[in-house]
Amino acid sequence: MNITVIGTGYVGLVTGTCFSEMGNTVYCVDIDKDKIEGLKKGIIPIYENDLENMVIENYKKQNLIFTTKLSTGLKNSDICFIAVGTPMAKDRSADLTAVFTIAKNLGDIIDHDMIIVTKSTVPVGTGDKIKEIIFEGLKNRNLENISVNVASNPEFLKEGTAVADSMRPDRVIIGSDDENTINTLKELYSPFVKNHDRFIVMDIKSAEMSKYASNAMLATRISFMNEIATICEKTGADVNKVRLGVGSDNRIGYSFLYPGCGYGGSCFPKDVQALIKLSENYGHTPRILEEVENINYEMKNFLPNKVKEIFNEDLNGKTFAVWGLAFKPGTDDMREAPSIILINDLISAGAKIKACDLKAINEAKHIFKENEDKIQYFENKYETLNGCDALILVTEWNEFRSPDFNTVKKNLKNNIIIDGRNQYNKQYLKELGFKYYQIGVKN
Ligand SMILES: NC(=O)c1ccc[n+]([C@@H]2O[C@H](COP(=O)([O-])OP(=O)(O)OC[C@H]3O[C@@H](n4cnc5c(N)ncnc54)[C@H](O)[C@@H]3O)[C@@H](O)[C@H]2O)c1
Repeated sequence: MNITVIGTGYVGLVTGTCFSEMGNTVYCVDIDKDKIEGLKKGIIPIYENDLENMVIENYKKQNLIFTTKLSTGLKNSDICFIAVGTPMAKDRSADLTAVFTIAKNLGDIIDHDMIIVTKSTVPVGTGDKIKEIIFEGLKNRNLENISVNVASNPEFLKEGTAVADSMRPDRVIIGSDDENTINTLKELYSPFVKNHDRFIVMDIKSAEMSKYASNAMLATRISFMNEIATICEKTGADVNKVRLGVGSDNRIGYSFLYPGCGYGGSCFPKDVQALIKLSENYGHTPRILEEVENINYEMKNFLPNKVKEIFNEDLNGKTFAVWGLAFKPGTDDMREAPSIILINDLISAGAKIKACDLKAINEAKHIFKENEDKIQYFENKYETLNGCDALILVTEWNEFRSPDFNTVKKNLKNNIIIDGRNQYNKQYLKELGFKYYQIGVKN
């Protein structure tokens, strides 16, 4: 098939590349000229495992074409995916400016039958508005007779494993009531769901809602476990043991039940907020969702508060080693990462930072530009520790899972580890002479 994908971010670039990997011809369109020129030269703007080779190979085969001209893609395609960002607006709703700009452009350009598919995460009712805007454009050009169908196909890939998730999705949700559209999307996705049928077909609104409800459920599990962690810490129970006791119930399971220093990323925070806003627009106060976000905000402050408590509120002249900057392992994405609140807070309290990450250092340099004299970056985890007053673990990259604690001890000034992901063995670290702090465990 010939496909246009608008937006070459984490979702657009990965899904476009995976479609091209299956032999389709994919036009990846973006307004960011530098990004498109870079991609043509094999410079991949984001880090995702396996992505670089797939982009370069498919670009060579001309299965993947990069352009800033939407008309070039549309003229050659029968399906067009919208995969632009829907960030959090000032009022915390989903900012749909890019989506509606695209809808207007589509109405001004389309001149043959097409299927338009929204992959961006958008509030319930957006598909109908996209349809309205496109048809307004077609009407103005006397092209009302063209068949343009708008469908929803929310994306469930996870940053860090985005290529693997796209090549083998858990499910493919198709929101449409048009038989031809449903069949065409099933044909496009069938190579990705070879071993059993994983299509779920529903109306557009339910498809749009399924995405928000899924992210809200995952965020709820995280905040729930963090709530339990706080109660554990106060009462003397150990949340690490409680997690096993709870997760072993197969009605509950272990996934997304880890206590930690808060969820971040481009999706959970903005999607939970957008769902709260959408509910309020319909006169409903979503109390659970509000608390999910409140608890998450408190958890992002857990690490800086713990550091201040340990050092008696006096961080002047102190230096802290931070392991992990990305919002989760496997990505360079730092949107809403807990490391941002931690580092900014420690610096404002007079501390300096030595930070280590496997992929997010360039991103961090932009984010902490104003404090560049107070933060140093390292690729080697042990070098990061030299002369530091404590080690703070923020992102659980594999690289940080089993360090040589004797080297950690030798390099740190004080034997203090504050663990935002409950990764290490408390007893072992105690025997080595560390003061070791976890979430949800009394010290
Ligand atoms: N990142 C994820 O893990 C993930 C997972 C599932 C769903 N989503 C959803 O997918 C959507 C895209 O997310 P992302 O993380 O890929 O965003 P992103 O910010 O990484 O990429 C968006 C891209 O769209 C481009 N763009 C913006 N306006 C444009 C326009 N008018 N024409 C062409 N290109 C334009 C930007 O330049 C950018 O390259 C969002 O709605 C997000 O919620 C994201």
